Amino acid sequence: MPRLSKRSRSVTGKVALVTGAASGMGRATAHLFGDEGAKVAVTDLNADGVAAVVEEITQAGGVARGWALDVGDGEQIRSVVAEIDRDLGGIDVLVNNAGIAVGTTVDAEDYEATWDRALSVMLTAQVRLVRACLPMLQRSGEGRIINIASSEGLGAQLYTGPYTAAKHGVVGLTRSLAVELGKTGITANCICPGPIRTGMTAGIPDDAKEKFARRRVPLARYGDPEEVAHATLSLSLPASSYINGVTLPVDGGMTIKN
Ligand code: NAI
Repeated sequence: MPRLSKRSRSVTGKVALVTGAASGMGRATAHLFGDEGAKVAVTDLNADGVAAVVEEITQAGGVARGWALDVGDGEQIRSVVAEIDRDLGGIDVLVNNAGIAVGTTVDAEDYEATWDRALSVMLTAQVRLVRACLPMLQRSGEGRIINIASSEGLGAQLYTGPYTAAKHGVVGLTRSLAVELGKTGITANCICPGPIRTGMTAGIPDDAKEKFARRRVPLARYGDPEEVAHATLSLSLPASSYINGVTLPVDGGMTIKN
């Protein structure tokens, strides 16, 4: 009797590039891919953090290499991606995760500088990485792009104009990539995390986190970085070959609650 299921639920041997991998969700994602047998390209602005995560993955029996990479710098993106391709033998999965917390009022003196920074690091960077990785993702035959947006890619909070615009942009970019690249077999999907315990939210006191979560999140708690990493891994599987162009909230139900 031939087996009905032919598609793999394993990323063993795949090369996964993760940006912003020194902390929070990026670090959890790098760890998870390492645990699942992928070769992980750990990249981040923070070189010491990169070295630490590479060491953690290696200690746990995984395969990882690290690169200091500022995703706001197009030239660095091109040279690091070429090195990853050369050293790890391709790129199968691109996780565009790096991000910064920026808040500002629309009448602030430095609004335009904040806007430029937010869009450079969280939107332009994602498409630059896609463009640099495109030949390798095509060569892969099972190329996967996972862009990390935010619940601010679906709605808005006060004083988050540049961040919200960048994250809405990620949702739109992902949809257009999904339509354009579909014929090559590369899928592009987008994750919108809700409130997650990471470096980005570390400054919010625990009691404020709990109050917010009780009021806004059906699961009544912040998420763990690992819970987002598992969603990213799922979208990266060879078996997820017909999931293309989705915007997946990983938010404990926050965005569907009235
Ligand atoms: P985090 O602050 O723990 O980690 C972000 C990482 O990105 C850091 O290691 C940082 O060094 C790196 N980074 C910042 N600028 C960079 C640059 N120019 N080049 C390369 N790396 C850079 O934050 P977290 O929460 O893990 O954030 C990951 C992604 O998730 C971000 O895109 C963020 O916007 C998004 N997000 C976070 C939420 C949360 O509640 N923590 C909610 C929704 C989305």
